[in-house]
Amino acid sequence: MGMKIAIDGPAGSGKSTVAKLLAKRLGFEYVDTGAMYRAIAWKAFRSGYSPNDRPGISKIIESTTFSLKNNQLFMDGSPIGDEIRTSEISMLSSAIAKIPEVRAFLTEEQRKLAANRDVVMEGRDIGTVVLPDAEYKFFIKASAEERAKRRLSQLKEIGIDAEYETILKEIVARDINDSSRDIAPLKPADDAIVIDTTDMPLEEVINYILKRMGIE
Ligand code: C5P
Repeated sequence: MGMKIAIDGPAGSGKSTVAKLLAKRLGFEYVDTGAMYRAIAWKAFRSGYSPNDRPGISKIIESTTFSLKNNQLFMDGSPIGDEIRTSEISMLSSAIAKIPEVRAFLTEEQRKLAANRDVVMEGRDIGTVVLPDAEYKFFIKASAEERAKRRLSQLKEIGIDAEYETILKEIVARDINDSSRDIAPLKPADDAIVIDTTDMPLEEVINYILKRMGIE
């Protein structure tokens, strides 16, 4: 069966960093479900389909496969890289994530990836929809301003130039998109432990999570 840990939260909350580090500490596999929405958006973009082109998006879904090896996600047999991290793909992925067919497909794929493994899976709806029976659920939040700062330094690290004001606007727009959609909106599961990390260093967040799991 394997143990499942769900980490959800809004854009730039630091959930990816927390989830990666936690997976490493526990020796679990790490799955970034946002990367799967981004990869579909990237593939649609490259094929010239807009998120409104439903037949086009259906075609993409029918021809896409995902796999996972040593914490690396693959789409159609190729590793998913940093090409999905641009601002353009961020906004497109949020639009594509509203499409019921896309959500149904990726939810199924994510459950398959989590099956028979110990995983830390991060996203928006892992505790609520994808893995409702996860042993542990954490919801990581932080102020929009703090999240914009974190996203900016993350992008810098991978060599993408961006402006604070633009990133802040994008984060607020994606929050609205992600929280107001009809299917699987961004919200903490009833049984999730909510952690506000605005003024919390990373190490403190990890220690708090381990403590809540009964691991010191
Ligand atoms: O986590 P990240 O910011 O990379 O996710 C990109 C987009 O994918 C989000 O804005 C959200 O719309 C969508 N997403 C989702 N459900 C998930 C993970 C991501 O809807 N489980």
